[in-house]
Amino acid sequence: MENTILVTGGAGFIGSNFILQWMAKERASVVNLDKLTYAGNLRNLEQISSDTRYQFVHGDIVERKLVGSLLERHGPRALVHFAAESHVDRSIRGPDDFISTNVQGTFSLLEEARAYWIGLPEGDQAAFRFLHVSTDEVYGSLGPDDAPFSETTAYAPNSPYSASKAASDHLVRAYYKTYRLPTLTTNCSNNYGPYQFPEKLIPLMILNACSGKALPVYGDGQNVRDWLFVEDHCEALRTVLERGKPGESFNIGGGEEKHNLEIVEIICSILDDLRPHDPVVPHRKLITFVKDRPGHDRRYAIDCRKIERIQGWKPRESFESGIRKTIRWYLEHEAWVNEVTSGSYRQWIESHYAT
Ligand code: NAD
Ligand code: DAU
Repeated sequence: MENTILVTGGAGFIGSNFILQWMAKERASVVNLDKLTYAGNLRNLEQISSDTRYQFVHGDIVERKLVGSLLERHGPRALVHFAAESHVDRSIRGPDDFISTNVQGTFSLLEEARAYWIGLPEGDQAAFRFLHVSTDEVYGSLGPDDAPFSETTAYAPNSPYSASKAASDHLVRAYYKTYRLPTLTTNCSNNYGPYQFPEKLIPLMILNACSGKALPVYGDGQNVRDWLFVEDHCEALRTVLERGKPGESFNIGGGEEKHNLEIVEIICSILDDLRPHDPVVPHRKLITFVKDRPGHDRRYAIDCRKIERIQGWKPRESFESGIRKTIRWYLEHEAWVNEVTSGSYRQWIESHYAT
């Protein structure tokens, strides 16, 4: 086995943050397998693209032959699986790709990882890890007074996206229980930070506010999410990979529950200070309530005492500090923003918010 990890979906939001952090803090090489869907962007990894420890492979995780050949060729000590269709609204409009990538793709990776792992010498078998990066959405929706999701909360997914992620989690669990493939699963809350595609709440609101466009809040704006700065999520994943026991799952969250309207108002007030000459100021004048998302989960909250206790992990960033960093990042990366907000992005925004 080589001192290499195989990452899937490393050109997306969390995957690219993870690879950048990994290259700065760890010694092992990285092979990044990514299909480069609309959400994948190699610009995110420009600063490490010529590093000899990093290699990009353009391809689909569903293709078993490709996955098998990468495992054989690179002999990784771990597979870190981010690749997914990740946007709930897109899953409502067209679930097919979610089933293909999230369910079939995870199955392909598990089968090929199992074949590779069986062929490893005993010591390498014990050291190998399959880390499956999943979401808190698999647990469904909480009422206002319910206890936060723990690792033992029953699964109750409500969207095609979360159902496809739940299916993938079950497959991962089964591969540990049945074959003893050394898997780890993490279920994380909403991430925010640099390189997030602006179809998601926080970057969408930052960019719309700066250009004087409506800030579309679904329903009554009272849905609650638990926000975590992406670099804290990446640190948690490195910790779990290093110290997690096979077959375990860990919930990861920021302990920062906020309703959507509050998030949008915070963004508006920071922008009022940073950009007093934007087309519409105060920015909150742009807030517009729009039709709700079907099956919209009311509240997510994460109990992350297990990872704190067993792994000693805690988020470094508060929402207050993380959101300021994030807003600054979007303001300072105009070229990145212009590139991702052209073409198919515009079509999505036009069709989704027209109805
Ligand atoms: P993203 O949509 O930004 O990126 C997904 C990446 O996967 C892209 O680079 C895309 O090109 C790639 N990809 C898609 N289909 C592929 C395929 N068939 N083969 C190879 N590559 C493919 O997603 P993200 O927000 O970075 O999320 C990464 C993972 O973390 C997902 O599994 C998601 O479910 C999970 N997660 C996300 C959040 C969040 O708040 N964003 C929170 C918890 C968990
Ligand atoms: O909880 C983890 C999940 O967080 C991840 O598994 C998903 O991959 C990730 O996309 C995210 O899902 P959400 O649906 O919570 O994120 P999104 O940014 O799409 O929406 C956040 C909240 O904001 C949600 O309650 C819907 C609302 N919203 C979203 C958009 C895009 C709006 O009110 N208006 C909008 O325009």
